[in-house]
Amino acid sequence: MTQLIHQLAHWRDIRQQWQDSSQRIAFVPTMGNLHEGHFSLVKLAQQHADKVVVSIFVNPLQFGPNEDFDRYPRTLNTDVEALSQLGVDVVFAPDVDEVYPDMTSDISGGEGFLVLPPPKLTNILCGESRPGHFTGVATIVLKLFNMIQPQLTVFGEKDYQQLAIIKAMVSALNLPIKVISAPTCRAADGLALSSRNQYLSLTQRQQASAIYKTLQTIAFGLRQGQSSDVLIEQARHELIYQGFDGVDYVSVRHPDSLAVQNFLGNDGAVILIAARLGTTRLIDNLVVMAEA
Ligand code: PAF
Repeated sequence: MTQLIHQLAHWRDIRQQWQDSSQRIAFVPTMGNLHEGHFSLVKLAQQHADKVVVSIFVNPLQFGPNEDFDRYPRTLNTDVEALSQLGVDVVFAPDVDEVYPDMTSDISGGEGFLVLPPPKLTNILCGESRPGHFTGVATIVLKLFNMIQPQLTVFGEKDYQQLAIIKAMVSALNLPIKVISAPTCRAADGLALSSRNQYLSLTQRQQASAIYKTLQTIAFGLRQGQSSDVLIEQARHELIYQGFDGVDYVSVRHPDSLAVQNFLGNDGAVILIAARLGTTRLIDNLVVMAEA
C-alpha cells in the first residue's frame, strides 16, 4: 500500500527501516499533476530498485514572478490514487514551510541557502528567459536528495537542460546517487506529454505538434550534413507559420556539454526548441546520433 507522507521526520523513520533491511531506494521528483510521462519514470524506477519514492512538491523557488506558479494544477488526491495503482511505496508531499523555513518564495529574497549551477549551463536556452529557474531546480533537487537519500533517481529527457544540470550537480558535488534518464513520452502526433499541454485550446493543441515535426526536420538536415544555422532559421519560420506566437529558441548543441554545434559531431547532437502558443510555453528536444 502507498503511504502518503507530509513530514520529513515520518519519512526518516520509514527510511531507517528500509535501510536496516538493505532495501534499494529509487526516487522520482515531481511537481504533481501526473500523466503518462511521469508514470513511465516510475516504471523505470521500479525496474532498478526495491522501493520507489515519488515526491510531489510545487517548488515556488523555480517559478519566476510572471510565471504560472499560482495556476500550476495541484491534484494531490488523484496523483496519489494513480501512484498507488502503480504500486509506488511512498509519496512524499512536504509542506513549503518545512522545505523552506528560512526563505521567501522568491529566488531573490530570503535567507536560505541556494545551489548555484555554473552559468555556462544556466545562462543558455531556458535559462535566458527564466533567470533563476535552474537555481531553484538545483536547490530543491539537492534538498530532496538529502531528505530522501536514494541510491538512484530518474529524470525525464523531456527537460533536457534540467537533466544535464542535475547530472552535472551529482558529479560535481560527489553525490552517491545514480541518475537514470527516461525517454520522452509522446502523444500519437508526436507532442511531448507535459502538464502544461492542458492549458492549450483545441486549435493550439493541433498546432503544438509542429514542434516535434520541426525537430525531426532539423535532425534529417543534420544527418544530410547541413549546417545548423540554416536549419534553425528555417525552423523558426516554420513554427511561426504553423501558428506559434513566439519562438524562444531553436538550438543545436553538444548532447553533454550543451555547447553550440554547427554540424552533427562525432558525439551526435541534441536539438532543443522552446516556443509559445498564447501564454503557454512548450519545450521539446531530440537527440541525433552520429552515423555509425
Ligand atoms: O521536472 C520537474 O517537475 C521539477 O523541475 C522537479 C525536478 C520536480 C523539481 O521541482
